[in-house]
Amino acid sequence: MRLVVTGAAGFIGSHLLQALVERGHEATGWDAFTDYYDPRLKEENAAGLPVERVDLLIDPLDLEGVDGVFHLAGQPGVRSFGAVFPVYVERNLLASQRLLEAAVTAGSRVVHASSSSIYGDAETYPTPEDTTPRPLSPYGITKLASEHLACAYAQEFGLDVVTLRYFTIYGPRQRPDMAFARMAACLADGRPFEIFGDGTQSRSFTYVDDAVDATVAAMDRAPGGATYNVGGGEEVSMLEAIEVLGRVAGRRLELVRSARREGDARRTAADTTRIQRDLGWRAETSFEDGLAAQWRWAADRVAAA
Ligand code: UGA
Repeated sequence: MRLVVTGAAGFIGSHLLQALVERGHEATGWDAFTDYYDPRLKEENAAGLPVERVDLLIDPLDLEGVDGVFHLAGQPGVRSFGAVFPVYVERNLLASQRLLEAAVTAGSRVVHASSSSIYGDAETYPTPEDTTPRPLSPYGITKLASEHLACAYAQEFGLDVVTLRYFTIYGPRQRPDMAFARMAACLADGRPFEIFGDGTQSRSFTYVDDAVDATVAAMDRAPGGATYNVGGGEEVSMLEAIEVLGRVAGRRLELVRSARREGDARRTAADTTRIQRDLGWRAETSFEDGLAAQWRWAADRVAAA
């Protein structure tokens, strides 16, 4: 199979491309190396991987002969109100539209990365896929719109597409703006961590290797048109996560409190019945093991700097 991963120099994309290469697939990564965070970190993620510089917004997109595309490229981050909104529309909607057109032309299967943020503060917990989406953030709104766009291409042009809703992925190489990457950096430098709100907000945190396995399984054997939650088995609050990090790192993280951020869901909890039933996937990594792996990776990088 010939495969392409968009966003291949990013956090999840680089793990996915690495796994595909290790499993013997003929896989290529595309990435625009945007500056949402320091592009040098993306260079580091992509080191040794077959990643080409491709901007989905402007470059010609030729998928001829490509069997499957993992579409992970996008503008991430739920805290997305204000002047940044056009970038979310460009990177999550306009870029996806060009990619979907190219996939239709080439007849490639698409596994499309969406987000738990399309649920917002959900109607039910744990949240199954057929819950009414009520995104709270501009980011979540662009991700939901891109899901609908992919569905329209499926219905009108026969695009073979599977949608994955990732729930707060963590692990080595986590984006530096995300909570655990910031917590680890603060702990390593002896700085206090700024916690947004009261810390009782919770997530179905999902370890990156588990997310990669779900993503590969979706390309391999998901029925066209399916949508799946990809969520960790344990729902953990931020205060609990801080306690676990203190335990695995053997030091206490100091906190400074600030206001809850607009767009931040109070709670996410994935109902993963459907993906378990259809693909036989469930998260295997315990929260403590996953956070310990992220901490070891972060501490090693600091030691090597
Ligand atoms: C994450 C990703 O950043 C999104 O790109 C992704 O789409 C989303 O998961 C998802 O599941 O759909 P989020 O859940 O906000 O979004 O993940 P973190 O940035 O790791 O934040 C987790 C919690 O920590 C949030 O409640 C946030 O308010 C809090 N936080 C974050 C802090 O208290 N302080 C910080 O400095 C950063």
